[in-house]
Amino acid sequence: ESIDTVVFENSTAASKSVAQQIAALIKSKQENNESCILGLATGSTPKGLYAELVRLHKEEGLSFKNVITFNLDEYYPMEPDSINSYVRFMKELLLDHVDILPENYNIPDGTLTKEQIAGYCATYEDKIEALGGIDLQILGIGGNGHIGFNESGSLQNSKTRLVALDHITRVAASKDFSGLNNTPRTAITLGVKKIMEAKQVILMAWGEGKANIVKASAEGPVTNQIPASFLQEHDNAVYVLDKESSSKL
Ligand code: GLP
Repeated sequence: ESIDTVVFENSTAASKSVAQQIAALIKSKQENNESCILGLATGSTPKGLYAELVRLHKEEGLSFKNVITFNLDEYYPMEPDSINSYVRFMKELLLDHVDILPENYNIPDGTLTKEQIAGYCATYEDKIEALGGIDLQILGIGGNGHIGFNESGSLQNSKTRLVALDHITRVAASKDFSGLNNTPRTAITLGVKKIMEAKQVILMAWGEGKANIVKASAEGPVTNQIPASFLQEHDNAVYVLDKESSSKL
């Protein structure tokens, strides 16, 4: 089994197409007076998508009043107003620029005590469940095949939890944290199980640097060494790629 892929000329065109799909989903939910539950990702990959969603809000009146979002992950420990927090990332790139209600976005809390984390993670999942699950989950992919911060070795039924970051993930992040020593060692991530339960999953990847992991996760064996490969077993998951990231398929 392999995964459906859609290849675009470049990441800008791909991001616009994903934004159109999200807009259509939001509007169809609005017509039925329903909430639209979106799972959101951070990293460089979704930046163009968020820019396009902001544009659709400002220039085409797309409303986010019925949208409820759950972010995949946050570093731990992390203060929300810190320069590298995913809270700050989401506010600056999307949330502060659209009409989403403040009570309707959820990002894992990096300020909890260790003792609070397990209960918090269970509540995070319960909240998703109570809303009927995630309608559409947006994902990037780490160079090692992680989704969210579900690193190699994460199980397909893993829950939302505190995880240790792989060395390779920390090296990739260290450029933002001015060196490896300042880079967090742990993070809170939505588990693979809730990602797999999303009704629809779109994984985006850009550039030559992702070509090997795109091939391995999309066409290789399903293995917990490459958590993105679990998506091969999802019946409504697609990889949205640019020419470079798809070049080895
Ligand atoms: C980070 C995030 C992931 C993201 C990945 C890829 O570690 N936690 O959600 O998909 O790295 O990052 P980028 O999009 O910058 O390549």
